[in-house]
Amino acid sequence: MKTKILNIENDNCSRREFLKDVVKSVGVVTVGSFVISQFNACSDESNPTSPSGGNNQNGPITIDISLSENSALTNVGGSIVISGNNLDGKGMLIIRSSETTVSALSRNCTHQGCTLPNFQGGASRCPCHGSRFDTAGKVLNGPATDPLKTYSASIDGNIITVTG
Ligand code: FES
Repeated sequence: MKTKILNIENDNCSRREFLKDVVKSVGVVTVGSFVISQFNACSDESNPTSPSGGNNQNGPITIDISLSENSALTNVGGSIVISGNNLDGKGMLIIRSSETTVSALSRNCTHQGCTLPNFQGGASRCPCHGSRFDTAGKVLNGPATDPLKTYSASIDGNIITVTG
């Protein structure tokens, strides 16, 4: 962006030129802010949790539920979101479905690929167009029509393991 000295009496910068440049600059900033806000609307990263421990390029993901950031998974019905990883670039929703079982779902909305947030009241609601998915990944309401991708997940003691 061109920078002008704010001296409108300067011969090299008439009042008209100055005002034209101001209008152009405001337009660029406004459009830029709009584009950024649209990107943000499609990615709810308000509380992403990174998978913890033992994760490598191609291997399974492990999550230690004894860590405070994963403590929601100590309770049946609890869930967390994890950030993008080697199995799913969008990240995953991890759900404690019973005392002995867990499930893992992609956070990739099947409508147009926005990132899904954690469950609230048993549903994950897409921030882009409002599709809702249940804890099994099934569509509760559209516009999405396809269920979420699921991953194999198991729990052994405090360690959850997710594989492709
Ligand atoms: S991208 Fe999720 S509802 Fe459209």
